[in-house]
Amino acid sequence: MLFGKKKPKEPRHIPTHIAIVMDGNGRWAKKRGLPRQAGHKVGAEAFRTIANYAKSIGLKYLTVYAFSTENWKRSEEEVSAIMELLEKYLREAIRDMDKNQVRFYFFGDLSRLSPELQEEAKTAMERSKKYAGVQVNFCLNYGGRAEMVRAARQFARDCLEGKCKPEDLTEERFSDLMYSAGVPDPELVIRPGGEMRTSNFLLWQSAYAEYYFTDVLWPQFGPKELDEAIDAYNKRNRRFGGAK
Ligand code: FPP
Repeated sequence: MLFGKKKPKEPRHIPTHIAIVMDGNGRWAKKRGLPRQAGHKVGAEAFRTIANYAKSIGLKYLTVYAFSTENWKRSEEEVSAIMELLEKYLREAIRDMDKNQVRFYFFGDLSRLSPELQEEAKTAMERSKKYAGVQVNFCLNYGGRAEMVRAARQFARDCLEGKCKPEDLTEERFSDLMYSAGVPDPELVIRPGGEMRTSNFLLWQSAYAEYYFTDVLWPQFGPKELDEAIDAYNKRNRRFGGAK
């Protein structure tokens, strides 16, 4: 008898690819009278928790904005603190790779990073290729516009070399020239920290993404907040430009 029984909850759909702007570290620290770097440190831990949680719920791709092409404008002290955190993170990730089974990938122009960080990124990427769990794409020295300009230049070079003609350019071909070649577009882009803008993040790839904004600051963003974002996504009616 169904009477009095709760209707079973519909299983929720986990997107294949979620992208996150990890915003609010500085404000989190300021509120506590701490230096901004302290916020980034807790932010890196928040990322670790989210990456493990993402794997446990079966997410295939998680892309995070760790350092933008604009972030170089910050104080030297803050930039080096973020770089040190990234290095530490990657060193530990390489050490714990077999346990965590996370695949690492990087979007962005890594050539401006320190040789050590470049080396760690390369090692993390090469050694983790074999894992089947979630793929984490770190956006480092990344900007959506710069990514498109880079793709356009590459296509122009290919044309000049006689490999293709301008008419050969399609959306698919252009996608293949992005850092994200081979990675499906994100269905959900999450921005904690209260700001409602894209900040040059995955401009090409997010054409049809659902955006989710929350006031929670990134250091306080945990599995519960990710679940809330996924639940909100599940309630959206994705039409891709089609009729209702
Ligand atoms: C934005 O917060 C955050 C960044 C520019 C850096 C993100 C970096 C980390 C989370 C640390 C390194 C990451 C890993 C995964 C090891 P904000 O500083 O702009 O915050 P605010 O808007 O409150 O000032």
